[in-house]
Amino acid sequence: MPQSEKLQIISSFEVYKNEQDLANEDRLLLMHAKRSLESAYAPYSHFNVGAAILLENGEIITGNNQENAAYPSGLCAERVAIFYAGAKYPGVKIKSIAVSCKAENQVINDPVSPCGACRQAIAEYETRYAQKIRMIMAGESGRVFIAESIESLLPLMFNRKYLK
Ligand code: THU
Repeated sequence: MPQSEKLQIISSFEVYKNEQDLANEDRLLLMHAKRSLESAYAPYSHFNVGAAILLENGEIITGNNQENAAYPSGLCAERVAIFYAGAKYPGVKIKSIAVSCKAENQVINDPVSPCGACRQAIAEYETRYAQKIRMIMAGESGRVFIAESIESLLPLMFNRKYLK
């Protein structure tokens, strides 16, 4: 019999019934994400996503998805926002990121959750600044999920420790 043991990874999220129950700082950031999704450029998916990033210096950076006729050339809201934060405020730590979405053909009552590529991009900034990034995820309405770190969404992440 081959010998092995089981590695169990537990991710935990705070679950709020709705955005009104959030702490002020989180609710405000989510409001910025929701406002930003209204300016998304999503003529192909008709699925608008907005992201808002709170920096340690108090600045709030927003971004939304930017699609392209050559589909893979588009970019998700989270990366639009986080790359802009990195470009404009290099060295300023990221406290939290709020993400929300709105679809043209259905009401999304479940929290939107960043795609794999965005999780990896966000993880890079946790490593870069050696500080956990609080993730606030909401749909158009309904529950809000909060994770204390991107690690909850990306266990066993690849990061710079492999590149020394
Ligand atoms: N999208 C985001 O902007 N963020 C996510 O977390 C998931 C997906 C965008 C990409 C594309 O423009 C549209 O949503 C449909 O996939």
